[in-house]
Amino acid sequence: MEAKECIMTRRSIRKYTDQKVTQEDVETIVNLAIYAPTWKNVQANRYVAVLDEATKNRIADECIENFPGNNRNIHNAPALVALTTVDGRSGYERDGSFSTSKGTHWQSFDAGIAAQTFCLAAHSLGFGTVIMGIYEEDKVSEILQIPEGESVSALIALGYPAEEPREPKHKTVADILSFVD
Ligand SMILES: Cc1cc2nc3c(=O)[nH]c(=O)nc-3n(C[C@H](O)[C@H](O)[C@H](O)COP(=O)(O)O)c2cc1C
Repeated sequence: MEAKECIMTRRSIRKYTDQKVTQEDVETIVNLAIYAPTWKNVQANRYVAVLDEATKNRIADECIENFPGNNRNIHNAPALVALTTVDGRSGYERDGSFSTSKGTHWQSFDAGIAAQTFCLAAHSLGFGTVIMGIYEEDKVSEILQIPEGESVSALIALGYPAEEPREPKHKTVADILSFVD
């Protein structure tokens, strides 16, 4: 699949077929996601894949309060990936000081690029994904035993699409682009 087609046809997928996602599938996707650029090439993003149904269901049922949509997303998907980020690397100098006035901002920035790279890689291979930002981080960290000093930056549901969502309304170039002299 060409990059242009991949970018234009990716959609957030919330319904999945029963077809299993294997460990090899996730490895193949992450092997592409490692090409995501990062702050000073610190590569602080990590991926924790949940293929076990019982663990996945625990996350759906115990870590999503007040947002049934994500409970459904996680139950529907055969796999869930927690994108975690080692704290204190993106946006920092080696001595621990912030490099810019934006402080910790670059950690989420790196995670966002990683998430989109993961989703585009998955889409190019025929998988569907949805990035989820609504979850209780402490509970996810506890269940997945995320090491101290790593944050859960996003959850990503993963599987084979069982829906073809319409393209959401996008702003036009004229809406978002300006040129200055
Ligand atoms: C940072 C971020 C957080 C998101 N959180 C959720 C979420 O918690 N649940 C959900 O169903 N979709 C979530 N989405 C998916 C967006 O709703 C979706 O990307 C947007 O509606 C555009 O649709 P598209 O991805 O099909 O282009 C999130 C997307 C991003 C980038």
